Amino acid sequence: MTDVTDGVLHTLFRSDQGGHEQVVLCQDRASGLKAVIAIHSTALGPALGGTRFYPYATEEEAVADALNLARGMSYKNAMAGLGHGGGKAVIIGDPERIKTEELLLAYGRFVASLGGRYVTACDVGTFVADMDVVARVCPWTTGRSPENGGAGDSSVLTAYGVFQGMRASAQHLWGDPTLRGRRVGIAGVGKVGRHLVEHLLEDGAEVVITDVRPDAVHRVTEAHPEVAVAADTDALIRTEALDIYAPCALGGALNDESVPVLTAKVVCGAANNQLAHPGVEKDLADRGILYAPDYVVNAGGVIQVADELHGFDFDRCRAKAAKIFDTTLAIFARAKEDGIPPAAAADRIAEQRMAEARGR
Ligand SMILES: NC(=O)c1ccc[n+]([C@@H]2O[C@H](COP(=O)([O-])OP(=O)(O)OC[C@H]3O[C@@H](n4cnc5c(N)ncnc54)[C@H](O)[C@@H]3O)[C@@H](O)[C@H]2O)c1
Repeated sequence: MTDVTDGVLHTLFRSDQGGHEQVVLCQDRASGLKAVIAIHSTALGPALGGTRFYPYATEEEAVADALNLARGMSYKNAMAGLGHGGGKAVIIGDPERIKTEELLLAYGRFVASLGGRYVTACDVGTFVADMDVVARVCPWTTGRSPENGGAGDSSVLTAYGVFQGMRASAQHLWGDPTLRGRRVGIAGVGKVGRHLVEHLLEDGAEVVITDVRPDAVHRVTEAHPEVAVAADTDALIRTEALDIYAPCALGGALNDESVPVLTAKVVCGAANNQLAHPGVEKDLADRGILYAPDYVVNAGGVIQVADELHGFDFDRCRAKAAKIFDTTLAIFARAKEDGIPPAAAADRIAEQRMAEARGR
């Protein structure tokens, strides 16, 4: 047994505290495919989660990421009330360099070999066009284009769900769901962030944005000259009289550097894994900042792809995503009742749902 295999097995069997059901290592030498499919739980139904295509430095890192992401999907899907467990796949390599039709088809055949225990979708490094290719050999593929029976870009409903989470936060904190007159800062105006801007302006909020890409900022300010721009995320989170901070770029936005200087009273955004490490949720609560858990408010996208399996209907999905308002309020209520931060309350509710499903 080589060192690499040893490392992967160690990651899998010894350091995995998440209790995953199944992990599949996939290799196709002809196309250069190396992938990991992790199924965390099928208690609530087939595992659902996207495919990340990323140049991991080591196989161990790829396995660890797949395990972590799959576990996160179990919680997200349970909280969204979907009949799905959590799973995730990672393809190892730089998509710009190694992504080919042959490789995607090889990957699709591996997903198909699981017979529907895992349903895939897009994630970082994979797009609607890629899922169209995967779907040619695998019926358990979502995130396809509308021409191929899919729902297309999921960021529209993701933004709508985040907006509902913000409205619930406003209701909880200020006794009224409207965001009229509230100052909202968005870090990252990509696919989700820019749709979020539209919802906020429509509701009468004052919006401040920032993005590392000048073209992304320009696209928003050109359409909406009333939107203010902060120099960078650090300037944005220190903005005077900021009511809500919406991290919509990368994970880890809430950390030991950012939390002490946040001026906002609410954090509610689309980015996955916003809490940089365990304990940050407590730091936020200690500062009196209300945190709407990321995987609860950004579930609009997975609600959309899950619907594809039943013949996509936008209005039905939008109605489901609107329920993120009630779910977020219920989490704040549970957090208050149990005397714990909202992130811990969300985990408790999700774990309860999975345990009940296992016991049935
Ligand atoms: N698209 C979805 O449906 C969906 C669903 C759930 C969660 N999310 C999460 O929401 C986040 C945004 O997703 P997206 O689809 O809009 O991605 P995207 O890549 O289209 O947009 C992200 C934007 O953030 C900007 N950015 C990167 N680093 C930054 C930094 N340090 N400071 C400021 N801006 C920065 C990028 O330039 C880009 O414009 C991601 O974390 C994603 O995982 C997305």
